[in-house]
Amino acid sequence: MSDPQVDIVELLRVADQAQKMAYAPYSGFAVGAALLAADGAIYAGCNVENASYGLTICAERNAIAHAVLCGARQFTAVAVVTDNGVTPCGACRQVLAEFGPRMTVIVADTRGNRRIYALAELLPDAFGPGHLQK
Ligand code: THU
Repeated sequence: MSDPQVDIVELLRVADQAQKMAYAPYSGFAVGAALLAADGAIYAGCNVENASYGLTICAERNAIAHAVLCGARQFTAVAVVTDNGVTPCGACRQVLAEFGPRMTVIVADTRGNRRIYALAELLPDAFGPGHLQK
């Protein structure tokens, strides 16, 4: 059984590294995310902006795409690092819930302050795959 405290420290370390890779020349708002898969693997993502602003992809959704490409589809936690420690946007909450409605969301700023949420409290009464069953 792994120690969740160790997982949080490692997740934050990976998210912090991912934030450094952000491509955010338009907003200047760099975001790093690290997803913890059910098997203990960690998948990173950063935001990638575009001159056609609406094509920007958030860090959390890039982490999901990275993980799914590698075969992971179940996640227990995500860490998100920004300069000011904000929570994931609504679109990312929905995409995270698709693969881990019970996941823990750890948000941190670059000074080391952190807060921990359940995804279900950030996205209550979520729409999900179960609602499409006939
Ligand atoms: N962004 C994320 O990467 N994740 C979020 O949850 C919120 C916003 C990015 C998108 C854009 O590159 C920048 O932050 C400003 O919105």
